[in-house]
Amino acid sequence: FQPKSLSGKRVLITAGPTFEALDAVRGLTNLSSGKMGLAVAQAAGDAGAQVTLICGPVCSPLPAVHQCISIVSAAEMFAAVKDAVQDNDIFISIAAVADYRPAESFEHKLKKTAADLTLTLVPNPDILQHVASLPNAPFCVGFAAETEAIEQHAAEKRKKKKLPLIVANDARLAIGSDDNALILLDDAGTHHLPKAGKMQQARLLIDHIAHLYNQHTKK
Ligand code: C5P
Repeated sequence: FQPKSLSGKRVLITAGPTFEALDAVRGLTNLSSGKMGLAVAQAAGDAGAQVTLICGPVCSPLPAVHQCISIVSAAEMFAAVKDAVQDNDIFISIAAVADYRPAESFEHKLKKTAADLTLTLVPNPDILQHVASLPNAPFCVGFAAETEAIEQHAAEKRKKKKLPLIVANDARLAIGSDDNALILLDDAGTHHLPKAGKMQQARLLIDHIAHLYNQHTKK
């Protein structure tokens, strides 16, 4: 009998896009399908972890993990993460959190006029950066979806957010697709996973995270 690689571990995962309401029927979002995050949640559960998944609006069915929390906006995701993060061993931040939200959001449907309409956007909190700088921070894994200088931008984000591991991917390949080709950047260097289905990529990623996490807790 071989124990599973994340047996008894608590893993918090964010996935999907966020939706930032402008009025009752409109808002800002992005093209994240959530498929990569849902696959990682499934793989972590299969590896024996007790998974809490906090997920933005997605079309795919949610995996059968310990707990799934559906949210809409970045502010709701932030509140749900702060509520759930304590006692988690690992935090995997896969959500494509909107960087900005409309400064004002209207309860009624805005009426169109002939005049120009200017939207003022304000920055959203960086959820991963908040969690990574908590006094008792879990082992934090970030994602970086890039369209150019992928490894360089991901390495900069890993440094800025002080993460043991960041997972880079080409946004043009990953978004909406069933395949991905993840690049893992950690203290040991850069590891390229061969292009494959998101579920297979998720399983390889979870193996890598379990390995790094075990090294990290042995220190
Ligand atoms: O800086 P960038 O947004 O590209 O960083 C990506 C990483 O940070 C992802 O892991 C994403 O889930 C996380 N993030 C976050 N909150 C934000 C923006 C990004 O948790 N507001």
